Amino acid sequence: MKFFIDTASLDEIKAANELGVLDGVTTNPSLIAKIVKDPANFTYADFKAHIKKICDIVDGPVSAEVTTLKAEEMIAQGEELAAIHENVVIKCPLTVEGLKAIKHFSSNGIKTNATLVFSPTQALLAAKAGADFVSPFVGRLDDISTNGMELVKQIVTIYDNYGYLTEVIVASVRNPLHVVESAMVGADIATIPYSVIKQLANHPLTDKGLEKFMEDAGVMKP
Ligand code: E4P
Repeated sequence: MKFFIDTASLDEIKAANELGVLDGVTTNPSLIAKIVKDPANFTYADFKAHIKKICDIVDGPVSAEVTTLKAEEMIAQGEELAAIHENVVIKCPLTVEGLKAIKHFSSNGIKTNATLVFSPTQALLAAKAGADFVSPFVGRLDDISTNGMELVKQIVTIYDNYGYLTEVIVASVRNPLHVVESAMVGADIATIPYSVIKQLANHPLTDKGLEKFMEDAGVMKP
């Protein structure tokens, strides 16, 4: 199973990369907005420069999202973003217009991530349009009392039934259980906030055991 980090923070990306478990990065406009220090002067060129910096840190797919609603405009933006680095993946919303853009990109060798996916039919369309990745948002479904992981199960089954190669990225991950369940149902990837990546390594019994081992190690004289 691959781990992506869901952030635009260079510090978090560097820290996660140093753990040696990072396979890629996903960003979205809200994550980009969080790292902007001077919004009045942040330009599209600055956004592209930031994506380039991420690509220079992580050797794996880096999702950069289009910020327009019309297919032709998504295509123009996506082509510009794809030119930044060979690892850039164009994130398109799973709308009718987004599908047109995904189809265009997949026919022209540009990788795509179908985002804001909340139903199996949307995931099926993403695969048929040739998306390289599909991103079901489990946390946002859980937030409205709908089991997000059920959707991931459905997508994995559907893709297995027909041999679709689109990789399933579990997105909107909120806790370590989401990561465990993603692995149990056979999702290809989980894109995880840095806070949750750190939680994956923690266990109170590890801390307790380590404390005792350190204390007992005191019997060994240098
Ligand atoms: C996925 O690629 C999205 O960036 C992300 O997982 C959204 O998560 P949120 O629901 O925490 O905003």
